[in-house]
Amino acid sequence: MTSAAASCSDFVQFFRLWAANPLQVAAVAPSGDALARVMTQEIGPETGPVLELGPGTGVFTRALLERGVAESDLTLVEYGSDFARMLEFRFPQARVLWMDASQLARFDLYGDMPVGAVVSGLPLLSMSPRKVVAILSGAFTYMRPGGAFYQFTYGPRCPVPRPILDRLGLKATRTGRALRNIPPAAVYKITRRQPLGAGRRRFEALPA
Ligand SMILES: C[S@@+](CC[C@H](N)C(=O)[O-])C[C@H]1O[C@@H](n2cnc3c(N)ncnc32)[C@H](O)[C@@H]1O
Repeated sequence: MTSAAASCSDFVQFFRLWAANPLQVAAVAPSGDALARVMTQEIGPETGPVLELGPGTGVFTRALLERGVAESDLTLVEYGSDFARMLEFRFPQARVLWMDASQLARFDLYGDMPVGAVVSGLPLLSMSPRKVVAILSGAFTYMRPGGAFYQFTYGPRCPVPRPILDRLGLKATRTGRALRNIPPAAVYKITRRQPLGAGRRRFEALPA
């Protein structure tokens, strides 16, 4: 299949899954290459293990591989069963987990805190504050010192409200925009406010 035919087929598949579950998929089409570049621009082979949340058809996954991240360093957490099956087929060396990202802290996915970056395509704006807290606190459970959580949004500000950032001891900075995405999007980098050791070592796991 040519790459144009493949992206057309991804578009059709994505649209079909959005029509079946608009709140969960939350976009009518996969993100474009421009947004994938901004989302992954600070990540490379030196980042080590990368956790991707809500990969969909794998646009950001492909960009991570192009940036030199080893496929075996990828853990892909996807709630949509059709997307999860597609990801397993496309990225056979990655670990694909068919699960709700708000349950991350309930499992021992790594055993330690080796994750250098989290790349999230999750529709945080359509989730409850409790769920957003569970996702962030779960993700940062696995994040090593200096690691960052990258999140895109179509909205005018960071999709994680300030009170949640404050509660979790996190800060957000905008790292770029992808104006050639449909719709245009901005990317936020969320990091710990203080290095580990200066405060609490691990976030508490909160119920979903
Ligand atoms: C807006 S789409 C983004 C897909 C892809 N990252 C992209 O940019 O094209 C949101 C994705 O998050 C997934 N998703 C939504 N809620 C989720 C959850 N609680 N846990 C894991 N994945 C979830 C959806 O199934 C979908 O694949």
